[in-house]
Amino acid sequence: MKMAMNQLIGKTSGFILGLIAFTYVSVTSFSWAANGEELFTTHCATCHKVLESSTGPKMQGVRAKWEEGGALEGSLHEWVRDWSVAAAKDPYAASVATWSPTAMSKFGFLKDEEIEAIFDYADNYTAPVAAVAAGGGDAASGPMEEESNSWVWILIGIVFVGIILAVGGVRRQLKYATVENETGTAPAEESYGDEIRSWAFKNRKFVGIIVLVVVMSGLVYGYLALNTVGVYHNYQPSQPIEFPHDIHAGVNGIDCKYCHNSVERSRTAGIPTVNVCMNCHKGVKGKDDAQKEKIAKIYAAAGFDPEGPGSYTGETDPIVWNKVHVLPDHVYFNHKQHVLVGGLDCKQCHGDMTKEKTARVVPVEELSAIEGNIKLTRPTLTMGWCIECHGEKEISNGPVNTVGSGYYDEIHRRLMDNDKELYQKYLKDDKVTVKELGGWECAKCHY
Ligand code: HEC
Ligand code: HEC
Ligand code: HEC
Ligand code: HEC
Ligand code: HEC
Ligand code: HEC
Repeated sequence: MKMAMNQLIGKTSGFILGLIAFTYVSVTSFSWAANGEELFTTHCATCHKVLESSTGPKMQGVRAKWEEGGALEGSLHEWVRDWSVAAAKDPYAASVATWSPTAMSKFGFLKDEEIEAIFDYADNYTAPVAAVAAGGGDAASGPMEEESNSWVWILIGIVFVGIILAVGGVRRQLKYATVENETGTAPAEESYGDEIRSWAFKNRKFVGIIVLVVVMSGLVYGYLALNTVGVYHNYQPSQPIEFPHDIHAGVNGIDCKYCHNSVERSRTAGIPTVNVCMNCHKGVKGKDDAQKEKIAKIYAAAGFDPEGPGSYTGETDPIVWNKVHVLPDHVYFNHKQHVLVGGLDCKQCHGDMTKEKTARVVPVEELSAIEGNIKLTRPTLTMGWCIECHGEKEISNGPVNTVGSGYYDEIHRRLMDNDKELYQKYLKDDKVTVKELGGWECAKCHY
């Protein structure tokens, strides 16, 4: 009887272990599946709305539209990854490209299923009318769906525990009955606690594995969660004036350094004063009402009266721009070192500002999709991001750098003087990275 009971427990524990593994795998893979809403909000929502056109056309029904319009197979996905490639191959895509003078960003990193998920989300989207009526403001349906999802899991958990307790109860009664049957006397009642303890002791291995799985997944999730603390994905604060980089640096081709004029001379790139704006906007007063309204804010800040001959009133009111890129105070970063000495382009770290409106912290996936950029994986502005680039970026192709400032020559000379062998080792792969010059030393970046 005891044997049979143990076998039964052995079998059930195998079954339970399997069930736990299955639940674990399905829960985690569930959360890894492409989430159309999230992808849409992080990558597309700056230009596209689902139900109406804004900077870009409305997103709902776009798949059907392309199909009816006679677009080539696969052309729509190609469009999202790189619209210019699609437009070159497919006349339909070429006709879409003329929709507005603004060009769409490129999303080379999006997989087929992710693009489909975005369109699925757009096609199934309905305006959140009910939430507003119920006084829920514009808390869209997204978070509520997620909540109801977790309720399902909690419910399943409760049912699961219920079943275990019920099975345990039946088993206890059976055990008492058999013991009473064999010995003729009723056994002393064991409390649930005692029983669980002795069961856990008997099944040490099984319990050990469960504890291990729970602790490990707790650690992994905790670690991943900690990695996202304080990391802003796609941070784009509102600005007192909607300053469009695309019109200035793109359409009008103004050099970044005209406005960010200390970028090659100092640590900071600098934000232009209102006087810099006035160099042009004294004359450029705006074509339509929307532009005039925005440009009027510049005049208010400079204390300028555009009516009549135009004169300064003396009443100034500085524009307070909101800082977009913010490193903690304990970090040292220097633009001159990266732009002038390191020869890096602004778009490596800030994305293609000739196509952006107000500045934002461009997510690393988008940065890596830009042609000519070093491909990185850690979130923009985190320590991992700095370190990763320092580990990859070469500073020289040969024994002595010929591009630039003589800064490297000095370092190479010192390396030669100090430790020839070490220097040879670096040069074996013909590569001297920032790391090998000390770019991974804590004190280089931390005060
Ligand atoms: C920088 C702004 C911008 C972003 C960001 C952007 N788009 Fe676009 N998109 C446009 C513009 C503008 C057009 C219209 C084509 C043109 O004028 O070049 C367009 C057109 C499209 C079209 C064709 C629409 C039609 O009616 O035929 C699709 C599909 C599309 N975008 C999908 C996406 C997806 C998916 C994302 C996010 C992964 C995205 N876009 C992000 C600006 C943007
Ligand atoms: C190696 C990456 C990198 C490159 C290349 C780079 N930047 Fe930056 N930029 C940063 C970081 C990091 C910050 C945040 C600095 C801080 O908070 O101390 C920043 C901040 C800024 C700011 C905000 C003001 C300031 O100085 O803090 C401006 C404006 C700016 N960058 C413009 C530019 C321009 C223009 C270029 C190209 C000429 C450029 N950056 C090249 C990483 C870079
Ligand atoms: C080198 C010349 C130049 C400088 C400097 C300049 N702008 Fe402009 N700005 C322009 C031109 C050109 C236009 C386009 C007007 C048009 O579309 O006809 C424009 C348009 C604008 C618009 C309207 C764009 C829209 O939304 O349609 C705003 C707002 C603006 N500038 C703000 C600024 C601010 C703020 C500064 C200072 C930080 C500044 N500009 C500095 C030349 C300049
Ligand atoms: C006509 C002036 C002008 C030009 C040209 C210009 N910018 Fe800016 N830039 C601004 C203003 C004003 C802001 C502050 C508003 C904002 O953050 O969008 C700004 C903000 C930024 C920021 C974010 C600063 C922060 O707070 O972290 C970056 C990065 C940046 N610019 C990069 C560039 C690059 C790269 C170019 C060249 C392709 C460029 N800018 C050209 C005026 C200019
Ligand atoms: C896209 C690549 C890239 C990124 C991202 C980057 N750096 Fe650099 N960094 C370089 C290059 C290239 C140099 C080489 C210039 C030099 O040796 O002075 C450099 C040099 C440095 C140095 C001087 C190292 C030395 O040995 O003197 C410091 C400090 C530094 N970076 C800090 C940072 C910080 C802080 C960040 C993140 C906020 C960062 N960097 C992000 C490419 C990068
Ligand atoms: C290339 C530049 C660079 C180097 C080298 C570097 N750090 Fe950092 N570190 C950063 C940046 C940037 C941050 C801010 C990250 C953020 O705000 O997410 C940071 C943040 C930190 C933090 C605060 C925790 C956090 O994530 O905000 C600690 C602790 C730290 N670094 C320790 C170190 C130690 C120890 C070393 C040497 C082994 C080191 N760092 C080397 C750039 C660097």
